[in-house]
Amino acid sequence: MKKRLILDTKILNLEDISEIKSDVLIVGCYEGSSSGEIVSAIDKSAKGIIKKLIKRGDHKGSIGSKLSIPAILGINAQRLLLLGCGKKGNPINSQDATKIISNAIQGAKETGGKNAYIVLPKIKVKGKNDNWIAYQIGMLAESACYIYEPKIGKSKKTTSKLRKINIAFTKKDEVNSSLKKSLLAGQITGQGVNAAKDLGNLPGNICTPSYLADAAKNASKEHSNLSCKVLGEKEMSKLGLDCLLSVGNGSIQESKLICLNYKGAKKAKKPFVLVGKGITFDTGGISLKPGNTMDEMKYDMCGAASVIGVLQVVASMKLPINVIGLIPAAENMPGSKATKPGDVVKTLSGQTVEILNTDAEGRLVLADALTYAKRFNPETVVDIATLTGACLVALGNATSGLLSNNDNLAKSLFEAGLESGDRAWQLPLWDIYQKDLDSNFADIANIGGRAGTITAACFLSRFTQDFKWAHLDVAGTAWVQGKMKGATGRPVPLLTQYLLDQIK
Ligand code: BES
Ligand code: MN
Ligand code: ZN
Repeated sequence: MKKRLILDTKILNLEDISEIKSDVLIVGCYEGSSSGEIVSAIDKSAKGIIKKLIKRGDHKGSIGSKLSIPAILGINAQRLLLLGCGKKGNPINSQDATKIISNAIQGAKETGGKNAYIVLPKIKVKGKNDNWIAYQIGMLAESACYIYEPKIGKSKKTTSKLRKINIAFTKKDEVNSSLKKSLLAGQITGQGVNAAKDLGNLPGNICTPSYLADAAKNASKEHSNLSCKVLGEKEMSKLGLDCLLSVGNGSIQESKLICLNYKGAKKAKKPFVLVGKGITFDTGGISLKPGNTMDEMKYDMCGAASVIGVLQVVASMKLPINVIGLIPAAENMPGSKATKPGDVVKTLSGQTVEILNTDAEGRLVLADALTYAKRFNPETVVDIATLTGACLVALGNATSGLLSNNDNLAKSLFEAGLESGDRAWQLPLWDIYQKDLDSNFADIANIGGRAGTITAACFLSRFTQDFKWAHLDVAGTAWVQGKMKGATGRPVPLLTQYLLDQIK
């Protein structure tokens, strides 16, 4: 995994603040007249100009606000950025805290300098300690410095210059080793987020199932505790993964089942299994999708990308657990060999499926991968999939869908979402929805009902009865639409947090 940023901690004597040499000096500033001791210290060197600006109303200090000042006499830094931190003394919630951190990093990027120096006042975050803040800084800084630089892309490279951020603390005891560890752990998570973005952003003509398999193999070569095995179509056919294979029938690209194996604990320790949907392009197949925004279906492998990202994070952190990453990868295309509506296929579990809509393909590849997961004797199985447009309607872009056959597992994932800021919300998986999947010609139909996200999860639940399982629908969260189109790397932060929480 590539590190895009050097993050360092510094101990700062406030009297020396004007001496700091940096492309941009970012100082936290409270709301109202008492802007805080950091602002006071810098104002002294700047002969009162800062407080004048604040008094005049040029900077309010509210959370989310910032004021960039190009140059000030008496201050060594090239630029000064006042960063709103809200009312002094008020404990803030975690969403406001991440807003302040993101604002600081965005400000550092916007100045166009190579290095930044951030001096934040002590912020109290409800229910969180300083390690949480450090972790968030590490993660948000690293992921904000993401640049997409493929082999084939824009001829003119867009490069952000920011390379180094110094985080200043005003007291020596604040920069303890545990805080530095959290900063680094956050940064490693950010690298995993960026690795997932890199794969997600690649176009479908580059990122094929074979490409995903190579990416997983390359990741395993970087870490001695990570290994990778890939099954091709022949091997899958022998094993009976016909449902997975049916999705790639219309494509010239060979379908793959990619298995990443991280060993951080004794062999006997049950592994956590992550299963990521790896549809490298989803045309809908014979049930062809409409043309507008179909390009976005290159993101239909973002579940897979997040699994590869998380396994790299876990391997880098050397977590004392075992983790398996399983990726069913295929390209969903129409063609003379493609699966047709009405076709009936047999799954690895033995159950048969009537494929009423070839655009409901994610659940088909997942069904066989989830059955395959059983052979690892898993502690828990979590699948991650851009599974339903309905999830986007229900929860929008902010929140992933969460469904589970085990309330404790659902709770752990929900809490990992809150802790990491990569949120998920549980939807019901009650039996009343199961009848929507009744078929006249097979054991299960692959579509059914109005509650699209729930019936999709109901379909998956038919293959997960032997273990604790949860499903994350990331159709709304894995990428951003519109002008800022791009992969987000979600839910790497949530999954990493979940696995960190499993270390007892
Ligand atoms: N990959 C799509 C889900 C999707 C659609 C994600 C739009 C993000 C935006 C999935 O394979 C799909 O096509 N799902 C269908 C299911 C339907 C046919 C039951 C959908 O959501 O429309
Ligand atoms: Mn589809
Ligand atoms: Zn799909």
